[in-house]
Amino acid sequence: MRAVELFAGAGGMSLGLKGAGFEVVAAYDSWQGAVDVYRANLGGYVRQADLKDIFAIGPTLAALAPDLIVGGPPCQDFSAAGERIEGERAGLTRAFAMLVCIARPKWFLMENVPLATRSQAWADARAMLVKAGYGLTETKLNASFYGVPQDRKRLFVIGRLGEADGFLESALAAARSCQPMTVRDMLGNALGNAFYVHPRMPGKRGVWSTAEPAPTMRGSSRRPMPGSYQPHPADAALVEAGAFYTRPYYEGRGVRTLDEPAPSVIRTTRERPRPKYLANPHPADPVPATAAAVLTQEQVSRIQGFPTGWDWSAAAVRDVDQMIANAVPAPMAEAIGGVILAREAGESIPEIQGRFGEWLRRSRGFSKQAIRNAKSRVNRARRLLGGRTFADAAAELAALDTAEAFAALPTGTRSDLRAALRLYREWQAEPKRGRKVEAVPPAGVKAVAA
Ligand SMILES: C[S@@+](CC[C@H](N)C(=O)[O-])C[C@H]1O[C@@H](n2cnc3c(N)ncnc32)[C@H](O)[C@@H]1O
Repeated sequence: MRAVELFAGAGGMSLGLKGAGFEVVAAYDSWQGAVDVYRANLGGYVRQADLKDIFAIGPTLAALAPDLIVGGPPCQDFSAAGERIEGERAGLTRAFAMLVCIARPKWFLMENVPLATRSQAWADARAMLVKAGYGLTETKLNASFYGVPQDRKRLFVIGRLGEADGFLESALAAARSCQPMTVRDMLGNALGNAFYVHPRMPGKRGVWSTAEPAPTMRGSSRRPMPGSYQPHPADAALVEAGAFYTRPYYEGRGVRTLDEPAPSVIRTTRERPRPKYLANPHPADPVPATAAAVLTQEQVSRIQGFPTGWDWSAAAVRDVDQMIANAVPAPMAEAIGGVILAREAGESIPEIQGRFGEWLRRSRGFSKQAIRNAKSRVNRARRLLGGRTFADAAAELAALDTAEAFAALPTGTRSDLRAALRLYREWQAEPKRGRKVEAVPPAGVKAVAA
């Protein structure tokens, strides 16, 4: 699938999507420094552009005819760390939606802070996207379950033309790891998302992330990791301290052990503890902040999913901190991209969620066996539909009728599958009780940094 990225920053999202198998054919950002870093690492196709100017960019996008438009419009106007007054930057979320509506790709993917869902800008953008025919999956995902050691919760909205809302939710949940990734995993001790290649010389790196190119393999590379393996000297201080300090949000905890994910990376993550924090440390700090390591920019970059060796030299050090904080961690983008590609290829179907079986028993008097049959027929119909869901029930049945493999089935089987799908839709149409609503701080709450 061909993808175009808007608000591409230094390229975290593009890196991940490429890793998943997308061909990224164009990328845009207004910040020249970010464009330079993107170009140095990912490709010369990136362009500096102000995406407010939808008259200029709209026709170009339509001509590119991508299968996916992806983007993380600026979040400062929605972010818990900002004033939360919707200004020009919030307007760029509308610009993103307008550009999607102009180019009408089959798919889009948008990333933002969870608070964006409370904004007028997203309400407007959402209305445009729905009107243009996109079914939406709006979900909050935690990066620590998608390949990076960071407790970073972000809103992802995935749209596909013609789908029923929520169509990708179960597939995204299935791509989640069982355990959150910790900083120690990243450093290689637990080899979570990393592998060991015997270093050529003592003191050279032996542990590599699966998100980066592997070193050259030699005959001796396949030796098992020795128990005495020492981490690369650049990480030695961190490993030795066993804990690290990051500037907290609000009055949160500043010190974490290596056996936890890091908190969400922000521009000031690697600041040293200030006297105010040292005088009034968080009661749950596992060690005093003075005994904890302060992360290097390279470590923060890795915690944000950038591979070792990512070339930041095109930008000023302070700007790099901002670009890192802005990024979608590449392993997370790769996982989401993989879920999209699998669905596009018809390799996954949405799971039957909730209490469909219970409803069949209560309202239709189905036996256990009849419930099992109904569920397996829904799944079979979904597979015949290539994993597609449909906003419209009649369109779903019509699509099933035109599926070649369906037409080849005996008449009785076909009517069983149709009946099961109808029942499932009936159940879906019923109002559900007890849907979980995410807790977010009330509007107007400001961040209190240490
Ligand atoms: C949240 S960051 C996106 C980061 C990116 N998704 C990544 O993974 O690295 C938002 C980006 O929007 C860019 N931006 C802000 N205003 C813009 C505008 N008017 N036109 C284009 N890009 C803009 C910023 O420079 C920033 O790089």
